[in-house]
Amino acid sequence: MKKLIAFNWKMHPNKLKDVEGVLMAFDGVDIDLDTYEIAIAPPAVYLPLISSVFYELKADISLALQNCSWEHEGALTGELSAEMGKNFGIDYVIVGHSERRTYFGETDEMVNAKAKAVLGAGIMAPIICVGESLTIRNKGKAAIRQHIKKQVIGAMKNLTSDKVVTNKRVIFAYEPIWAIGTGKAATPEQAVEVIAYIKEVIEANYKLSGVRVLYGGSVNAKNIMEFVGQDAIDGALVGGASVDKKELKNILKKLHS
Ligand code: 13P
Repeated sequence: MKKLIAFNWKMHPNKLKDVEGVLMAFDGVDIDLDTYEIAIAPPAVYLPLISSVFYELKADISLALQNCSWEHEGALTGELSAEMGKNFGIDYVIVGHSERRTYFGETDEMVNAKAKAVLGAGIMAPIICVGESLTIRNKGKAAIRQHIKKQVIGAMKNLTSDKVVTNKRVIFAYEPIWAIGTGKAATPEQAVEVIAYIKEVIEANYKLSGVRVLYGGSVNAKNIMEFVGQDAIDGALVGGASVDKKELKNILKKLHS
């Protein structure tokens, strides 16, 4: 299966000209599309522009949402439904990012409901984020495993009874909170250890093998191959570095064919 490299722009940038500037990083790069699939999750207001720029550049990049509602449609001011995403051509939705869990009170139940909405809408896959805080990491391996298992099981509740779920249609991202936006990425060994555990939990509980698990947290052009080059790591979820034109260009060069 291809490795998925997803760019999460979060709430950046504010200016349209900066969006256009960053997108120019995709111009003239020849990505090895047999090995990698690239997806971009910008602020949703930029999606129409971004999809037309990719069309002009003939860039084969998937579009993603950073979040969606668990509801199908309704009087829910400020929300976007997974169906709206599907009808726009969205392939992935990031679900349960730690920033949403921390600042917007998203619980495992909400994450589960959103993952269901994504799958129900016929979008290729939710990218479900899990990861421990520094406090938990400092408590040691058993505490990390307990936390990760709770998040994985919470997100997967009743998903596997849904016929649309196959091993290819649910993706996890291991994003340790202490590595996000800090410049202190996990070591590849730390990432591999937890990612292998996530796969173990999924296999043991749902008999699903081959579920892709990405790594995210201070990934940049310098360290991306240390993660993506590992057999156990099925791709990367890149934040800050993906809204920096130069850094993004350097990342894309690493994925060159
Ligand atoms: P940074 O790459 O900025 O650490 O962010 C990671 C992340 O949260 C991606 O979803």
